[in-house]
Amino acid sequence: MADPLVVVGVGGFGRETLDVVDAVNAAADAPVFDVLGVLDDAPSQVNLDRLAARGVPFLGGTDDLPARDGGVRYLVGVGSPRARRAIADRLEARGAIAATAVHPSVTSGYDVTIGAGSVVCAGVRLTTNISLGRHTHLNLNATVGHDTTVGDFVSVNPLASISGDCTIEDDVLIGVAGVILNGLTVGRGATVGGSACVVRDVPAGSTVKGVPAR
Ligand SMILES: CC(C)(COP(=O)(O)OP(=O)(O)OC[C@H]1O[C@@H](n2cnc3c(N)ncnc32)[C@H](O)[C@@H]1OP(=O)(O)O)[C@@H](O)C(=O)NCCC(=O)NCCS
Repeated sequence: MADPLVVVGVGGFGRETLDVVDAVNAAADAPVFDVLGVLDDAPSQVNLDRLAARGVPFLGGTDDLPARDGGVRYLVGVGSPRARRAIADRLEARGAIAATAVHPSVTSGYDVTIGAGSVVCAGVRLTTNISLGRHTHLNLNATVGHDTTVGDFVSVNPLASISGDCTIEDDVLIGVAGVILNGLTVGRGATVGGSACVVRDVPAGSTVKGVPAR
């Protein structure tokens, strides 16, 4: 039987998360997820209209988590690592269970683990011996190389490329098309700008941009 699922976030990545869920269901012999609807504490009208147009119900704020026998699964479709962590904590406290959605076009090699709550979008390439933490977002066409560890609540934006032997700590955001060269560590809560090329370790909590990133 399909797992009842809510997605949090009516914005862009929330609806892209719905796309991943739809693709998972379409590729399976029987639906994996029964999408109950979307939660959002501060939805804009334009995004509510976009959601309505695709026929997915808006259920209200995160206090309006629906109840089902056996529990409700959830995915947080919010790009900000810090906001995503806060929402996940709130829903877990209410008994919601993190789901995991991996688009069927994703390729992954030997010994790849993906933490609960993660959303892995179309075209992502994961090679070998990779660990992704909880609530990780790997956006369209991102790549992760061998022997790399990605922490919890990390956001990897489209086309970003994390080389082999890297450590990406919790709550990091890697901007669109950002590159992390091999063997480097991006410290907890750091932000890597779009199109940056990271050539040395990034201190926790810092923002780096440009080529080379500084
Ligand atoms: C790096 C980043 C985090 C900086 O954000 P910010 O601190 O708000 O930066 P600002 O917009 O105030 O710009 C500050 C300066 O940095 C420059 N800058 C901003 N982003 C840059 C980037 N990615 N690379 C190089 N320079 C950048 C600006 O031109 C500006 O330069 P100036 O002071 O000479 O005018 C942000 O621009 C970024 O790249 N975020 C990633 C966005 C992303 O991935 N979007 C896709 C979503 S799917």
